[in-house]
Amino acid sequence: MLILSLETSCDETAVAIVQAQKNKSKTLANVVSSQVKLHAEWGGVVPNLAAREHLKNITPVLNEALEIAKLKLSDIDLFAVTNGPGLIPALLLGVNSAKALSYFQQKPLVGVHHIAGHILSAFFDEQLNFQISPEQFPLLTLTVSGGHTQLIYSKQPFAFQIIGETQDDAAGEAFDKVAKILNLGYPGGPLVSQLADNYIRKNKINLNKLDKQTNSPSQKKLFPRPMLNKPNFDFSFSGLKTAVLYHSQKNNLSSQESKEKICFEFQEAVVDVLVTKTIRALKKYPAKTVSLAGGVSANTRLRTKLQNAIEKEGLALKMPPLTLTGDNAVMIAIAGYYKYLYYKQSNKLKIPRNNWKNLDADANLKLKPLCIKIA
Ligand code: KG4
Ligand code: ZN
Repeated sequence: MLILSLETSCDETAVAIVQAQKNKSKTLANVVSSQVKLHAEWGGVVPNLAAREHLKNITPVLNEALEIAKLKLSDIDLFAVTNGPGLIPALLLGVNSAKALSYFQQKPLVGVHHIAGHILSAFFDEQLNFQISPEQFPLLTLTVSGGHTQLIYSKQPFAFQIIGETQDDAAGEAFDKVAKILNLGYPGGPLVSQLADNYIRKNKINLNKLDKQTNSPSQKKLFPRPMLNKPNFDFSFSGLKTAVLYHSQKNNLSSQESKEKICFEFQEAVVDVLVTKTIRALKKYPAKTVSLAGGVSANTRLRTKLQNAIEKEGLALKMPPLTLTGDNAVMIAIAGYYKYLYYKQSNKLKIPRNNWKNLDADANLKLKPLCIKIA
């Protein structure tokens, strides 16, 4: 089945084409046009500017994807689009474009939850081939992006159950705000992470050794580990960001060296909480596979520390290739495929056939569990 997908929930205009089969799929095109430079000027994403850019970009990006895949629109069997959560003016552009495509091509359309896409992104390899099997479930996913920080348990494919989430800022949002406090630029995640890496390199910090000492009370920690003493699987990063702000105000922050130290200590605090809570969640929600997803999954320290911790539990960690950590339409195509299978298996194919007129964009769309036989 050939699926063409659109993703416009935030500041990337993305179109992908995926040739999907039940548990083995191939990416034929993956085009992402990023608006990062435009929004950097404002220190964050401006929703109406994002929508204007999506309007400009959507047709060229769509044409480029079709050219790369050497296909025509009439070859496509199914259209998929992110219909939430996200910025409403941005989402509307993608949803309305997808509805027009579905109407004119008379092909079904499915709406995809953005986070369902991120969750599935961990099952792509470097060549952007996708593979998943029922034996990999139950699955525990840590989703960390600019808008979300959640632990999601899927006992079977794809019975998404949110077992913990942030009570305030998302992890990526905290990275972005710390970058703002330190005047580093936007988006902050990669910049903070780069400065933290400089600090590790310059101070020859042995991270393996550091991780072995993590729980020793003698280890000094500059910043708090929020919610770590709570028995639930929720997170909170807003206080940590404030701790960085107070520390920066109290100390002289003009030198690059002190900024690098703060970035390192801040990253340690975030990663420590994310990894510890994920491992704790495994005790209550036993899983065969753990996965990491979302924009912050590009963070090297998080990838390595979580991988080591998961391996210690005798499990495998699935992570998206670096090309798919941020927003993209490949993950939306595959999530769209499984959504279509869900409709098919539950005799509801009327819904995707009528979505050209019925599909709505929803800024606060809830992640719903689906029950799908994938083999
Ligand atoms: O998934 P994503 O592209 O968009 C949303 O759905 O929100 O995530 C973007 C977030 C931003 O907050 C960005 O700063 C963060 O991911 N990010 C990172 C890194 N790369 C991107 N955070 C920490 N370390 C990174 N290397
Ligand atoms: Zn995202």
